[in-house]
Amino acid sequence: MTSDGSRPQMEHDEAELIMEDGRVYRNPTEVKMSQIVLPCHANHRKELSVGQLLKWMDSTACLSAERHAGCPCVTASVDDIHFERTIGVGQVVNIRAKVNRAFNTSMEVGIVASCEDLYSNSHWKVCQAFATFVARSSGTEKQVHLKQLVPRTHREQVEYSVAAERRRMRLIHIDIMKDLLNSTSFQSSINEGVSEGQDEETEVPAERTRVESVELVLPPHANHQVSTFGGQIMAWMENVATIAASRLCNAHPTLRNIDMFHFRGPSQVGDRLILKAIVNNTFKNSMEVGVCAEAYQGEEPLRHINSAFMMFEVLDEEGSPRPLPPIHPEPKDGKRRYQEAIARKKIRLDRKYIISCKYTEMPLSVPWDPTNQVYLSYNNVFALKMLAARNKWVLSSKKNNVKLYTLEENQTLSFRVEAEVKVPAARAFLLLSDLSRRPEWDNHYKQCELIVPVDEDDLIYRVLTPSVSEGGKVQDFILLASRRPPCDTGDPYVVALRSVTLPTHPPTDDFNRGEVFCAGFTIYEVSESVSKINYYNQTNPGVLPYISTDIAGLSSSFCSTFLSCNKFLLENRTGTSVISNAAL
Ligand code: COA
Ligand code: ADP
Repeated sequence: MTSDGSRPQMEHDEAELIMEDGRVYRNPTEVKMSQIVLPCHANHRKELSVGQLLKWMDSTACLSAERHAGCPCVTASVDDIHFERTIGVGQVVNIRAKVNRAFNTSMEVGIVASCEDLYSNSHWKVCQAFATFVARSSGTEKQVHLKQLVPRTHREQVEYSVAAERRRMRLIHIDIMKDLLNSTSFQSSINEGVSEGQDEETEVPAERTRVESVELVLPPHANHQVSTFGGQIMAWMENVATIAASRLCNAHPTLRNIDMFHFRGPSQVGDRLILKAIVNNTFKNSMEVGVCAEAYQGEEPLRHINSAFMMFEVLDEEGSPRPLPPIHPEPKDGKRRYQEAIARKKIRLDRKYIISCKYTEMPLSVPWDPTNQVYLSYNNVFALKMLAARNKWVLSSKKNNVKLYTLEENQTLSFRVEAEVKVPAARAFLLLSDLSRRPEWDNHYKQCELIVPVDEDDLIYRVLTPSVSEGGKVQDFILLASRRPPCDTGDPYVVALRSVTLPTHPPTDDFNRGEVFCAGFTIYEVSESVSKINYYNQTNPGVLPYISTDIAGLSSSFCSTFLSCNKFLLENRTGTSVISNAAL
């Protein structure tokens, strides 16, 4: 991601790394593809069809994954893609892909597509995606075990670190969506929305938009292992979705967004692919089209390959989205999909807002609710990893081997306290991630109460701290603590903290409601019995008075707080350190 918290650019936005032999470093997994958009790649609006773009993006990413894996790879999933711009005939598409991180058999590949106008020599970003590829053993080996990737540049290190968090989110995505759509509170809130918004006279029957189409998988659609290219399937899905969307609006729609694609099972040459699409719901200026891809050969039963949800708009001559007619869903499945489309719209908005918005656009406390908890948890850990990855930390003070670093950036001051403790990292993690024990060592924490035990990895606490000014009110904070054990050797344990708002705990007159944007611990294993602890805090006016005297050298309370923490950890160093593998 970019330093301001927006999503990564993967462009040449960091200083070049010069290798020992004088050459400029280039990521060994990086693959580039450039294509000129011809009329055969375009739709009726003379714009590159998204299906063709997806094919090119998938091929580029697959070649990058195979370069790292050294064996054939298949597309397992592609995260949400938002298309910022369209590309016209005659323009050039430049695609860059590189492996961000390898796990056991899978890899995250980052892909950026940009457009180049040859006449004006201008370039602009079209979209960015993260795809997961799984390596397939080509020879006698039963299972592939991928070699680890060694990130070299600062940006590669950041992507490497955040890729683990994105992987966690995508692996729970399907279950989270299922749980949410089934939850009774969500169902009832949607039902209220549905009864308010109906206008029978202008409704278009959903049935009118239904599409069913078949494709025969031929050798040009597959790799040398006869597995169908994921990009080809995505292109076929986009094709039927576009037909369904066109039938609703009797115009040429523009695809804006695709929800995460997950390839549930493989497809090979000789498969017949049945693609079905229908408009699930329309909103004021956009519609959701659902597509389902199934495969069969001969008499065998249908295999579910993929289901996807795509958001289309219809643009007027000025390029603004046109209002769309409401849809009349079919009974049973149609009604269910109509309601689920409303739920997905909300989740999509939360996700886009929480995950991609910049620091400056994000309010300090975000309301916590079950539909956004995965994204807030991701955002919490992501923000801390980004803060930890900054490379402009300056050593401000050092006492008894406890170091205080500061970072001034984007008009915020952050600090970091670093020291080693003679306590195993797993144990330190267990003790520090239990915020209710923090009053035992931190005198700024007067009281800490666990108020929502969300799951194994996420807990919400209410913390009371002394008043900043003399005679002032006690401060209270509602903090989300997200904990992550390492994903691999070399990764730290992470405990991230940020403020959230909870309807059950509104601010009251008795306390000053304080807010934490980003704080927490990273804990590295130095040896079996020693760990290095870093405590980070992105200050706001509420925290500044505690630390500014330390930074100015007028006191060293950071050191005494750390010594007290060290004492607490040493006193509790024995005990079981059971670390959940849920996040792995
Ligand atoms: N998104 C990203 N990665 C996923 C995933 C998802 N939704 N589901 C599973 N994976 C990853 C796992 O994390 C695991 O990675 P790791 O080894 O690095 O830890 C890897 O896939 C295999 O996991 P496994 O538990 O064996 O999952 P599975 O039995 O559900 O298989 C696929 C997952 C993707 C391999 C399987 O569904 C498949 O073969 N899909 C079709 C792939 C394909 O052929 N694509 C081309 C177009 S059809
Ligand atoms: P769900 O029905 O839960 O949405 P599916 O995977 O069965 O999940 O389908 C995904 C989407 O594909 C549906 O939301 C719908 O838009 C579309 N779809 C599924 N089946 C059909 C069908 N028989 N005809 C047209 N479109 C379909």
